[in-house]
Amino acid sequence: MTVKYNDQGVLTMGNVSLQTIAASFGTPTIVYDEEQIRTQCRRFHEAFKESGLSYNISYASKAFSSIQLFKLMEEEEMGLDVVSEGELYTALASGFDPSKIHFHGNNKTNEEIEYAIESGVEYFVIDSLDEITRINRLASKPIKAVLRVNPGVEAHTHEFIQTGQEDSKFGLSIKHGTALEGVRALQESDKIDFKGIHFHIGSQIFEADGTINTIQIVFEWLKEHDIEIDILNLGGGFSIKYTEADKSYPIEDGIKLITDAIKENSQKYDMAIPEISIEPGRSIVGEAGVTLYQVGTIKEIPNVNTYVSIDGGMSDHIRTALYDAQYKALLVNRNDEDTHEVTIAGKLCESGDLIGRDMKLPKSTKIGDYIAVLSTGAYHYSMSSNYNQMLKPSVLFVKDGKAREVIKRQTLKQLIMNDVK
Ligand SMILES: Cc1ncc(COP(=O)(O)O)c(C=O)c1O
Repeated sequence: MTVKYNDQGVLTMGNVSLQTIAASFGTPTIVYDEEQIRTQCRRFHEAFKESGLSYNISYASKAFSSIQLFKLMEEEEMGLDVVSEGELYTALASGFDPSKIHFHGNNKTNEEIEYAIESGVEYFVIDSLDEITRINRLASKPIKAVLRVNPGVEAHTHEFIQTGQEDSKFGLSIKHGTALEGVRALQESDKIDFKGIHFHIGSQIFEADGTINTIQIVFEWLKEHDIEIDILNLGGGFSIKYTEADKSYPIEDGIKLITDAIKENSQKYDMAIPEISIEPGRSIVGEAGVTLYQVGTIKEIPNVNTYVSIDGGMSDHIRTALYDAQYKALLVNRNDEDTHEVTIAGKLCESGDLIGRDMKLPKSTKIGDYIAVLSTGAYHYSMSSNYNQMLKPSVLFVKDGKAREVIKRQTLKQLIMNDVK
């Protein structure tokens, strides 16, 4: 993390004072270290180059979508995974090359299918049998596609972010035969060029076992049914550190284990090694972002708890309410190590609107102080809402000692823009 206290005890990111940013841009604000995002992209590239395999890395834009981020991704030679017309629209508005975009979704609308085809996306990730029928009907020109399969594997992560288990809305089941049905329908289609297989077994996964297990299942299944593929897309899932309790999953070790498993399986089953695609989201932007808030109220309930309330909450930080996700917070304007445990609460009308319980903050924390919640770069802005008519926060990138706004704070006017008056 490039977030650290400077000699004056002020929290900085890339040598820029987060106190100055909070004071000049207001709070809540999400601040990213641009260099750290670039480093993560480069680590994935290096790890794949080391493997010698042909590869493609597509940033999973659901983690955080913005025009400036997409421009950065293109500079870092990343592709994009999009999952809705909105994500595709944002990518195209950034000037992103559509031939490097994959279009996902377990329930693509007809309009989305047509929009993605017209835009010239590289391939579709097909998620249902019905989608094959609809693409065959709607496609005005031939398209490429991979099929998302459900391998029936449980990744070691929170059940809400597991996606490869048997009971899942994603993909077609290998075990129950619908995946094979899908492959055969794609092979027969004259509108769709079947390119390969996709799986994504979950997110915030901290070991390679589940992915390696799935690779084995997929290769065995491909061999059994004599299915040839050009692309094997492994999805995303690399974990990040939210708190000291999180196990880190180094990209380099993970890619080595995974690519070794691919090499072994292709040898075992005498199959050519396909191009390997991955779609990391969280591991690219998660640790690079922090959210700045201002403390507005402190409430002590004697012998029970201390509530430190900040000027945002579940409208920009939903993951705690959603999966009891854990975070670390630091005081921005002082480096004071004399801490105690408090509950950091949001200002929205839900008891579950918390940044977290038992979080360490200095005993000296007072109204008006700024705090930084760490590792909020993924699934924060992209999951933000206008609950309680809260305004969406601004987003900044820090680079070379300077901060620039990449998304402006929503305004009150914009909040009611679509209301019929
Ligand atoms: C299909 C697919 N690919 C990639 C990702 C990105 O996962 P992560 O952010 O864990 O890398 C997701 C996340 O839900 C996904 O559903």
